[in-house]
Amino acid sequence: MKGVVFNLLEEAVSRQFGPETWDDLLDDADLPGAYTSLGNYSDAEIVALVSAAATKLGKTNAEILQWFGEEAMPILKERYPALFENHKSARNFILTVNSIIHPEVRKLYSGASCPFFHFREADEHSIVMGYESSRQMCDLAHGFVKGAANIYCEEVTIEHHSCMNHGADKCLMEIRWAH
Ligand code: HEM
Repeated sequence: MKGVVFNLLEEAVSRQFGPETWDDLLDDADLPGAYTSLGNYSDAEIVALVSAAATKLGKTNAEILQWFGEEAMPILKERYPALFENHKSARNFILTVNSIIHPEVRKLYSGASCPFFHFREADEHSIVMGYESSRQMCDLAHGFVKGAANIYCEEVTIEHHSCMNHGADKCLMEIRWAH
């Protein structure tokens, strides 16, 4: 996983719980920290930090990943406003993840391995999003989608119909807009 993801996690944790909490998580996970944005680090390190946060805050790993994704989105908007500017809605933004957002990420962070999503536009109030990745981080995707909805002042509910973390070969999430 690219160092930028660790930098985002550090910023999200520090903004909400203070920088000392990030230091505690590094201690608990027995990691040295000092992640550089372009560096590549083992996925096991992000999992260890998420688990340390879950233990410390009395949450599940899935809840921490969802929280992280939601908090990361406004930080990403501060850093990459251009990716958000030309969209009138979160739906519009989310549907560009394969065609614009992650291709841009691969240009900025050489060697990034971003997941590919399948989208089925079920009706005007919902999208079914398919996710497949050896990282099995559908909860991070869930959080990113929530965070994107917040940015466009929209309210979504997300239901996981099938999940790699529960034995399925891919994840299917239904994103539904309140109307
Ligand atoms: C709704 C929009 C988005 C979704 C659903 C999404 C989802 C994800 C997920 C689930 C991962 C974890 C890797 C995996 O599962 O294999 C990931 C990786 C990543 N995403 Fe996105 N993302 C979104 C938007 C963005 C934006 C706006 C940025 C930055 C401008 C971004 C940057 C990255 C980076 C840097 C990685 C790490 C790749 C690596 O370490 O190899 N994503 N994304």
